[in-house]
Amino acid sequence: MDRIRIVGGERLEGTISISGAKNAALPLMIASLLTSDTLTLKNVPRLADVTLLARILGNHGVDITVAGKRAGQRNGDGQTVKLTAEEIVDTTAPYEMVARMRASFWVLAPLLARCGEAKVSLPGGCAIGTRPVDLHLAALKALGAQIDLEGGYVIARAPKGLTGNRVPLAKVSVGATHNSLMAAVLARGDTIIENAAREPEVADLALCLVEMGAKIDGIGTSTLLVEGVTSLHGAEHTVLPDRIETGTYAMAAAITGGEVFLDGARADLLQEALQLLRATGVEIVESPSGIKVSRNGGGLSAVSVETQPFPGFPTDLQAQLMALMCMAKGTSQVRETIFENRFMHVQELARLGARIELKGDTALVTGVNDLRGAQVMATDLRASVSLIIAGLAAQGETLIGRVYHLDRGFERIEEKLGQCGAHIERLSG
Ligand code: EPU
Repeated sequence: MDRIRIVGGERLEGTISISGAKNAALPLMIASLLTSDTLTLKNVPRLADVTLLARILGNHGVDITVAGKRAGQRNGDGQTVKLTAEEIVDTTAPYEMVARMRASFWVLAPLLARCGEAKVSLPGGCAIGTRPVDLHLAALKALGAQIDLEGGYVIARAPKGLTGNRVPLAKVSVGATHNSLMAAVLARGDTIIENAAREPEVADLALCLVEMGAKIDGIGTSTLLVEGVTSLHGAEHTVLPDRIETGTYAMAAAITGGEVFLDGARADLLQEALQLLRATGVEIVESPSGIKVSRNGGGLSAVSVETQPFPGFPTDLQAQLMALMCMAKGTSQVRETIFENRFMHVQELARLGARIELKGDTALVTGVNDLRGAQVMATDLRASVSLIIAGLAAQGETLIGRVYHLDRGFERIEEKLGQCGAHIERLSG
């Protein structure tokens, strides 16, 4: 198993190019199931989750090709992926696949909408919480699907097609909004999705569906109005930049007291996180081509934050912010309201010398003057990157195990940080 070795203490300085968003690319790839034409996605990140989803979609009959390098393209520019689901050959998503990546559960809606049936394994628990699927199933039932649970599988049937309806989502859920949208676009009649997630990745999916011929109003708001159409067609869509990767590198630059330009980042996708960084004493300059983050000499101040659905502070940046606050002056309060068990990084950060006290859903982080390198273990994607952030600032060597978590969501992280002066390397085997 690969490990990452960091020798901390270097100030990050330079430019980091921001990749396409993992959490947009995955539902966009799944949307290819809705049409027999080709969906071309540009700026797709090179990530383990993207590769795994390509294999899962391949099982349903989707042909996938990745375009080769073009003139003028730089190494590391996003990939162009063409997905064609001319014929769906299998409407079952087996346990072995769905258990490895929760987002693959979202094939449920497009398979059901296009084929009138789908059998998809329940995703099961995961390191950050129980993560049920009740909202997904309630939404599909509202659109007329018959849902049965059998042997750990969801079996959804709508032999005469889905019918538009009111879909009130009891809780804000990114995945349930994706599934509701992909079901509603091919349903007969009108659907109103209420309490929809407003995350930019939901809007990106909705925009792509519109490019494919869907009729959707209210994109970017919590009420999505969908007028069903009988079929969708091919389209070309560019995946939006990854706001979580952006926030992660902003915090990495901040903890090292460095100066980094995040090339291609879109500030409008993470205003709450940028405001919070400003409150800690970090200078942020937004421009149309990216975001400059710097902390030249000044200290970091403690802040209090709670995770919230978009436009609030994202749960996917909670672990990274906590790493940053380990070196701030004073005590920060970090409350996690989205997932009940997303504090796995706390005990690993403590190994690096962090002072964190957990009280239910809140972590009290008291800043220390120095972190010290140690051997630590990645437990999930965002937790593992918080250890990298802390390791960059820690004195001496930090060795991070189980880095496959990291490869699921961060493209070429050693290279991107290494180019800015970090001493970071991957140790294979
Ligand atoms: N929930 C339910 N019932 C449901 C669905 C969700 O109770 O049927 C609850 C969840 O347990 C959670 C809350 O609703 O407490 C929000 O979960 P949501 O459905 O929004 O999460 P998701 O769609 O499964 C996506 C991202 C996550 C991100 C969350 C929240 C992808 C592939 N995943 O998950 O990203 O944390 O939204 O923003 O888009 C990550 O990238 O590391 C990651 C975990």
